[in-house]
Amino acid sequence: MKLSGKKILVTGAAGGIGSELCLALAGKGAILHLVDIDVTRLEQLRQAIQASGGKAGVFLCDLSAPHASEVLAQQLQDTVGSVDILINCAGIASFGLFDQQNPDQMEKLWRINVIAPMQLTRALLPGMLSRGHGRVVNVGSIFGSIGFAYFTAYSASKFAMRGFSEALRRELEGSGVGVTYIAPRYTRTAINDGPVNRMAQAVGMNSDDPSTVAMHVVRAIEKDRNDYYIGWPESLFVRINALLPRLVDGALRKQNIKTRPFALGH
Ligand SMILES: NC(=O)c1ccc[n+]([C@@H]2O[C@H](COP(=O)([O-])OP(=O)(O)OC[C@H]3O[C@@H](n4cnc5c(N)ncnc54)[C@H](OP(=O)(O)O)[C@@H]3O)[C@@H](O)[C@H]2O)c1
Repeated sequence: MKLSGKKILVTGAAGGIGSELCLALAGKGAILHLVDIDVTRLEQLRQAIQASGGKAGVFLCDLSAPHASEVLAQQLQDTVGSVDILINCAGIASFGLFDQQNPDQMEKLWRINVIAPMQLTRALLPGMLSRGHGRVVNVGSIFGSIGFAYFTAYSASKFAMRGFSEALRRELEGSGVGVTYIAPRYTRTAINDGPVNRMAQAVGMNSDDPSTVAMHVVRAIEKDRNDYYIGWPESLFVRINALLPRLVDGALRKQNIKTRPFALGH
């Protein structure tokens, strides 16, 4: 899909990947609708986009709140009408032993990472379908294909987004509306706190800059890609895990011994 002149809603716009992505999309001539929970960073991003000649509007929204997506979709409808592309990028992570997760925090993670993207897609889809074109872009993770110890709730949420993307894509076949599932690997942004970064360093995890991820997302949209896995050999491991999961169990067993102390907060 050509991006020039397209109206694009991006959640998590003020975040590490989101902000680089919005700047890249604006540079392609897209009109951005920026959604995030942090008004200061949203305004800074809008100003940066406008300073470089782009167009952007701001929607403040806490996607973990009940009915947030419906309220946002209505605000959008009342102000700018429908959008051509929805990018579900907002997300939170959790790292630690599963039995020590805070139940409220786990529910919040599920609301932000899964429920809000599904509800927002549901609300914005009729506009795309009535025009016979559009694209939903779901930002998943390599952990959405390879269940990763100590990221259990997060991994599960990204598996859900991958399943949602695949099923919806099949449901929408022939409608003119496509679905892209994009899976970054470990990326240097604020979602990863101290223990995660120390663990990643200890096991030698490959990483990307958010600007690199943004470049891949833009490419995936321009090429109307269904699935897009970022990074080598991570994209190979995804395929091996799908075919031979017990082989990956063995490989990760050794790594888990190294990651566990970080998950315990040491
Ligand atoms: N970084 C990685 O290693 C990595 C790897 C694979 C996939 N991803 C995925 O990439 C996406 C973007 O992550 P990122 O790395 O750019 O992280 P990030 O810098 O933390 O960006 C996430 C953005 O979502 C916002 N957000 C959080 N809770 C929200 C809520 N309730 N309502 C509205 N917005 C909310 C955050 O705001 P606050 O900062 O104010 O919380 C932040 O601006 C996520 O879906 C993540 O799962 C990241």
